[in-house]
Amino acid sequence: MENLVFICELERLSDPGSYGFSLDCAGKQVDGFVVRRDGECFAYRNSCPHTGSPLDWVDHQFLDIEGALIQCAVHDARFLIDTGECVFGPCPGESLESLPIRVEGDKVYLLVSA
Ligand code: FES
Repeated sequence: MENLVFICELERLSDPGSYGFSLDCAGKQVDGFVVRRDGECFAYRNSCPHTGSPLDWVDHQFLDIEGALIQCAVHDARFLIDTGECVFGPCPGESLESLPIRVEGDKVYLLVSA
């Protein structure tokens, strides 16, 4: 069974845009972020595969200046928005850990296994 845990209103995300979150899911903390691009949303754990550091250097800012790739602020790795694969920087071929989400109406939810 899966529970929906509210992340944010869809309008909180510009397109392209990103939103970081830290949620308590049944006693387990989940730190992640949502990226919206071309009307689609993707979510990943906020942990760079290079060293495990959080990726954002400003709250909710996970995209590069063009809004084309996810960017790690620590050593500048870049990741594809739709797959989380690293395509530039110190961890090529490694990937961000994706998180399951669902958009229902104007709200974005994290799917958590009960
Ligand atoms: S910690 Fe992300 S690129 Fe090094």
